[in-house]
Amino acid sequence: LNEQIRNSLEIHDYLNQQKQVVDSYLDDFLPSASEYPEIIHEAMRYSLLAGGKRLRPILALATTDALDGDFHRAIFLACALEMIHTYSLIHDDLPAMDNDDYRRGQLTCHKKFGEGIAILAGNALLTQAFQLLAEIPGDESLAPTKIRTIHHICRAIGSRKGVIAGQVVDLITQGKQFTRKELEYIHSAKTGALIEASVYTAAILAGADRDTRQRLRNFGSTIGLAFQIVDDVLDVTGSPEELGKASGKDTAGHKATYPRLYGLERSREIANELVEAAIQELSFLGDKSEKLKELAQFISIRRF
Ligand code: IPE
Ligand code: IPE
Ligand code: MG
Ligand code: MG
Ligand code: MG
Repeated sequence: LNEQIRNSLEIHDYLNQQKQVVDSYLDDFLPSASEYPEIIHEAMRYSLLAGGKRLRPILALATTDALDGDFHRAIFLACALEMIHTYSLIHDDLPAMDNDDYRRGQLTCHKKFGEGIAILAGNALLTQAFQLLAEIPGDESLAPTKIRTIHHICRAIGSRKGVIAGQVVDLITQGKQFTRKELEYIHSAKTGALIEASVYTAAILAGADRDTRQRLRNFGSTIGLAFQIVDDVLDVTGSPEELGKASGKDTAGHKATYPRLYGLERSREIANELVEAAIQELSFLGDKSEKLKELAQFISIRRF
């Protein structure tokens, strides 16, 4: 147990420290709030800089480290991933989707700025992310790698097994019966795909070989699914204070969730098993996998 507590303290320290790095670059990469038309930049900054764990950018940076990749390139990718994630949250919270009032411990973007600006702020963050990817520093010879990176991110967030696909099936299964297969599809797509892409595209950018990329991709998709299962569990067991967003919403909204199909206990077990399997996938990295392992463990022990 002592070792567990020590590990948990270590990972929280690491997360905090990396979060500060990511936050300072996000601030730099965003238009200032005084730039015309101010309202959109205020809204983008409001949602992006509100907090959040920064798990996707931190995974990308940890992958870069593990592969001895270039930080100054990876930070562009990392910030783009967080912008895309935040866009997905702004739209997920809209009245036409989950209709939520709180996110990251403050009013949701549409509650604060109105629906029109919230929709546009989401679109603007998505757009800004691709600008950032195009601006990854490097000479001509890096261009094919950048295109591969952008291509994979498009696939991860689109309508074929990407974030949009997951959100669509999440929406149309609401209040309905659903199968285990549909549930896994929803979770792997709406959340797993971007987490997988965070690891996989960092590996592409670091110039990793095919085998390395494939193993990291498996790692990413497995912890990504686990992450959403734990999100479902926390919706039942967590408090708004800890989560920074309302809890109990999935049950109230008759959402397709793991606890609904498997119960809480079994859902936790499945998430733990996935994290363990994901960690096995990293053995080829030896000592270099330390931070990625800790991040994977964080996913199963997290309370927020
Ligand atoms: C919340 O994501 C939405 C899901 C994909 C489950 P996070 O739990 O990563 O939210 P933040 O970024 O920390 O706010
Ligand atoms: C959201 O899943 C996934 C995306 C935003 C793509 P949820 O709807 O469960 O996320 P929370 O619980 O609102 O953060
Ligand atoms: Mg949702
Ligand atoms: Mg939601
Ligand atoms: Mg949720």
